[in-house]
Order: sequence, then structure tokens, then C-alpha cells
Amino acid sequence: MLVASRDLTEEEILRKLEKRLDPRRYVHSLGVAYTACSLFMAYGHTDPAELSRAYTAGLLHDCAKNLTDEERDKYCKKYALELSDVEKAYPYLIHAKLGAVLAKEKYGVQDEEILSAIRWHTTGKADMSFFEAVIFSADFMEPNRRELECMPEIRKLIYRDLDAAVYLILKQTLIHLEHKGQVIEEHTREAFEYYKRYERNE
Ligand SMILES: [Fe+2]
Ligand SMILES: [Fe+2]
Repeated sequence: MLVASRDLTEEEILRKLEKRLDPRRYVHSLGVAYTACSLFMAYGHTDPAELSRAYTAGLLHDCAKNLTDEERDKYCKKYALELSDVEKAYPYLIHAKLGAVLAKEKYGVQDEEILSAIRWHTTGKADMSFFEAVIFSADFMEPNRRELECMPEIRKLIYRDLDAAVYLILKQTLIHLEHKGQVIEEHTREAFEYYKRYERNE
């Protein structure tokens, strides 16, 4: 499938990712890429150029996930990334923001929507675009993900009502973070408040 990169071919992106990610993360990234494409198709975005954008965002969404602490700090400095207190306390969150920067700088992605979908894939945010919501939820429910109790419901719902599925994912995320005693990132909290309106009572 074509990729939305100015500099690299699909093969080059795959090879580079395979080198940079651990095997599990690489398989997950392919899972997000194809799940994002399936969601695009389900919602009528069947144009090959659109599918290639979904595929590219899925492939690259975790491109900054397996950096060492030193590499991460080096890139944050190099690209002058501003980090919130929560990101400083939970550095795994940084891979979303940094991933968007690396997708542009190292993988030749110019498309702002792809970069934004990568930027918001971990925390989510209120009123996401279709593209952002697809990558956010594909990340959660692609087939290689660990089976959670809520998964069948989310996977069934998502092809009929994306916003309602986003709400369930956020709800599950909050339960999980609260259970771990972890601080809730402000965009996740705002997203949860926003997507409440899409809750389905079936
Ligand atoms: Fe991620
Ligand atoms: Fe991911």
C-alpha cells in the first residue's frame, strides 16, 4: 500500500520500524494500520489516498515508543518539546508527542492530520476529528491487543458508532488508571467529559 511520506517508500518505513520497535510493538503497529484502514472503509473513506493516510498513521503511531531514556531526552531537547508535569511524571506518555515529531523529521510525513492523529493517540482529547478518533481507538482494539472484558462490546460497536466506542474506551482507560492510582492526564479527562454525550444505553 502506498504510504503518505515524502521521503520513504513503504518498504523503507517497514524496515526502519522493524529495526526501531520490539517485535510485539511492530506487530501491534501493523494491527493498528490495518484496523484503521478497516474503520476508514466502514465509514465510506474508500479512496486509496485516504486509506494510505490511515495506514501510514497506524504504522507510525508508536514510532517513538521503544526509544531508550537517553534517546528520548535527546530528541525532546533537540526538538524543544514542552512537557507537562504529567508527562514528566509518566514519561511513556511522551511517545505520542515525540512520535508526531519523529514521523515528520525521520519518516518524511508532512500531512498534518496524520501527525495530529499520532499526537493524540494515547491520551485522546475532546472532539477528535474522524481521523484522530480512528487512530485512538484502533490503538486500543486492534486484534493483537490483550483481551479485556470490554473488548467484544467495543469491537462490535465501533463499526456502527465510532463516538460511542470512543466513549467506552475512555471510560475503560479511566477505570484502569484509577485502579493503578495513576494521575489522569487532563486531555483524557476532558475527552471523557466530552464523549459522555455519546453514551449508548442499550
Ligand atoms: Fe502508543
Ligand atoms: Fe500503540
